[in-house]
Amino acid sequence: MPSLDYSVEVKNLSMKFGDFTAVDDISFEVRRGEVFGFLGPNGAGKSTTIRMLCGILTPTGGSGSVCGFKLGDDNARIKTVIGYMSQKFSLYEDLTAYENLDFYSGVYPINRNQRRDRIEEALDISRLQPRRHDITGTLPVGLKQRLALVCSLMHKPQVLFLDEPTAGVDPLTRREFWELIYRLSESGVTVFVTTHYMDEVEHCDRIALINAGKLIKVDSPERLKLSGRKILEIECANWQKAFEVLRRHEAQIGESALFGTRIHIAPKTDDVVKIEGILDSSDCKLLSKREIMPSLEDVFVSLLSPEQL
Ligand SMILES: Nc1ncnc2c1ncn2[C@@H]1O[C@H](COP(=O)(O)OP(=O)(O)O)[C@@H](O)[C@H]1O
Ligand SMILES: [Mg+2]
Repeated sequence: MPSLDYSVEVKNLSMKFGDFTAVDDISFEVRRGEVFGFLGPNGAGKSTTIRMLCGILTPTGGSGSVCGFKLGDDNARIKTVIGYMSQKFSLYEDLTAYENLDFYSGVYPINRNQRRDRIEEALDISRLQPRRHDITGTLPVGLKQRLALVCSLMHKPQVLFLDEPTAGVDPLTRREFWELIYRLSESGVTVFVTTHYMDEVEHCDRIALINAGKLIKVDSPERLKLSGRKILEIECANWQKAFEVLRRHEAQIGESALFGTRIHIAPKTDDVVKIEGILDSSDCKLLSKREIMPSLEDVFVSLLSPEQL
């Protein structure tokens, strides 16, 4: 088996469906052991990319490899080194948690004793031991998601592909799911995870931002925030009116958003005087102003704004 620094490498990868380009000439690498987030709005091309990387779809352009195995040529071998949890994962609802794990481990050539150990390990890591004999259909959705994830680990894959694993669940459940992802990452598994939740990618080592099939940016959350435009945070005596006034002048000064009673502006210019002037002439006294680091959400909104694309 090839030894490598990268778990995933793609170069000019494209996928066309007829004359529609779902994935458009993307190139990136995922390092071994990394938690790599693939972020983009619905229809951006996230699932299509994952399906190519898992050897389910054959790319119509470019090339790539997973654990050194070439996409297309080595699809059968790729399947032995990856785990995949699709957006619509399937568990047997009428089997217990244990029986689902037993079924999924039976798909792979694992001997009986090893199989038992792996099931116990999976129940431990997913914290599902107390529910091992519960019928899967009766488990809350968060536990089903954790169960589906560990079902995809029974053959000890080196790379795990998760396609929107936390879609439609509450923030607490999402956090518990992410804790499981960290535990896996610490054990050396590379995790490639797609999401459309901006707050989630904060947990990733690096993030790729994808929109309309094109890769916009790949970087760590910290570096993305540092590279983003500074945000001006202001407080005004009459904040509701001030916010309305600033919104009306967005074309001139930049976008405004309300954070409690404070207002965040992504200034188009360094000309703070212009903003003060607008507020003064509307009887909204500026009480304080300071520059703050943009949040990841601020950075993505500005990267996806029509002026940037
Ligand atoms: N088999 C297919 N045939 C035609 N179009 C497809 C097919 N699969 C996906 N698409 C289109 O490709 C685009 C990207 O889809 P997808 O990769 O599922 O996006 P995402 O997972 O980011 O929401 C969408 O416009 C979708 O309708
Ligand atoms: Mg998708």
